[in-house]
Amino acid sequence: MNTLKYIAGQFEKPTGFGGQISTLIMNIINRKMYSKTIDILNITNKDTILDIGFGNGKMLKKISSFNPQKLYGIDISEDMLKSAIQLNTTAISANKMELFLADVQNLPFADNFFDKIYTINTVYFWQNYENCFSEIKRILKPDGLFINTCLTKKQLEKLIITKYGFNKFTLEELKNLTEQNGFSDVDIVEIEKDKSVCIIAKNKKIGSVLI
Ligand SMILES: C[S@@+](CC[C@H](N)C(=O)[O-])C[C@H]1O[C@@H](n2cnc3c(N)ncnc32)[C@H](O)[C@@H]1O
Repeated sequence: MNTLKYIAGQFEKPTGFGGQISTLIMNIINRKMYSKTIDILNITNKDTILDIGFGNGKMLKKISSFNPQKLYGIDISEDMLKSAIQLNTTAISANKMELFLADVQNLPFADNFFDKIYTINTVYFWQNYENCFSEIKRILKPDGLFINTCLTKKQLEKLIITKYGFNKFTLEELKNLTEQNGFSDVDIVEIEKDKSVCIIAKNKKIGSVLI
């Protein structure tokens, strides 16, 4: 088996021992992405928040220390679901967190459920972008906040493993994709120059009247 392809697969859908290692590495190298996302989330105790593609659940644990009303997460990897549950047993037992096995294309939540939704380093792996954005929009409250934290195309192109299974978008493409799928007030906040960004957007209110 091609080693680079195997490593790339451990970022796309971490499983087994390789998945444990790759997610621990992510916890270290993504620290700035985590902290900028937390700043922008501006968490209050009234917030219901979703993490899409939580990996080993380290970011969920950090967020839960800010005591939002409730935290939810989804991931496609069964092994990551187990790891994230193990890491967050206290919050889960206190009914402050719920985690599910699910794909961003088909989110198991009611319409207008979340105040804030974020995802870190997952957008490269989504399959049908229209479906994914439309699901996020459906479950986010009107005017709710969506943060897509990711590496720039320039940075991804420096990493050899991204030849396998990574979709790479320019910032303009990501901005357009977000706007074309019904989000407004799209803003790009740089985390590290030319390396990583948060794409911030609001769920456009439908039927708002301008006077
Ligand atoms: C590169 S890891 C990032 C993990 C975590 N967000 C972090 O930054 O530490 C990508 C994660 O997204 C999950 N993932 C990939 N495609 C997904 C999809 N279509 N729906 C939900 N989760 C997905 C993977 O299983 C993996 O846990």
